[in-house]
Amino acid sequence: MTQIFAHRGSSGTRPENTMIAFYEAEKNMADGIELDVQLSKDGKIVIIHDQKVDRTTDGKGFVKDFTLDELQKLDAGYRFQSGKYPAKIPTLEQFLSWFKRTEMICNIELKTTSVTNHELEEKVIGLIQKYDLDDRIIISSFNHYAIVYSYRLAPHIETAPLFMEGLYMPWVYAESIKAKAIHPHYKVAPKELIQISEKEGIKVRPFTVNKEKDLKMYMEIGASAVISDYPALARKVKDQL
Ligand code: G3P
Ligand code: MG
Repeated sequence: MTQIFAHRGSSGTRPENTMIAFYEAEKNMADGIELDVQLSKDGKIVIIHDQKVDRTTDGKGFVKDFTLDELQKLDAGYRFQSGKYPAKIPTLEQFLSWFKRTEMICNIELKTTSVTNHELEEKVIGLIQKYDLDDRIIISSFNHYAIVYSYRLAPHIETAPLFMEGLYMPWVYAESIKAKAIHPHYKVAPKELIQISEKEGIKVRPFTVNKEKDLKMYMEIGASAVISDYPALARKVKDQL
């Protein structure tokens, strides 16, 4: 059964990566939530996608140049549907203290580009362990050094490399970095890739799957999950299978 992961929460219908988007995902019966994390100037783990705050908030500048207090003065709902849903940038800790009480899975995407500084990986894993959530979290990243580093720190936490291009035999590559899953862009995740990979024991969760026909196709061929901005639509498609 294909699981439904809400991409940045229910980001098609609520401001991305905010608590409102995460509550909405739960309400829409998503099985999981995908979110993006990075560090603030004062080293706090915050949930936001871009390196800059400009696209999603009423502020300007790089996330790494704001303290947590400064970030939380911004409105993360400002640019979504004319500011209909005012929201704060959440910390990962705020999220986890709510998430712990739900039944969902969480895919934490590490937004780090460094191959030598592992502060983000160390802090994220520390927090997962503080909340005793090791078996409900998947760590993913486009930075595969962060994937390998996370695995070494906590081998029991599932990891998944993200990729956008045509990686050759990604299930073999996943095994070589001890990942249990792969998270490909849907354009590089054709049926055959999913079928072979799943058969080889490597789960596939393509992103970002928003069209009804694609959701249906991935569900019919048995992808482990789909990562979608519209968990309610994905649930509808799943119920009609
Ligand atoms: O984790 C899936 C997806 O979120 C990766 O791309 O840019 O939306 O974080 P992006
Ligand atoms: Mg992401």
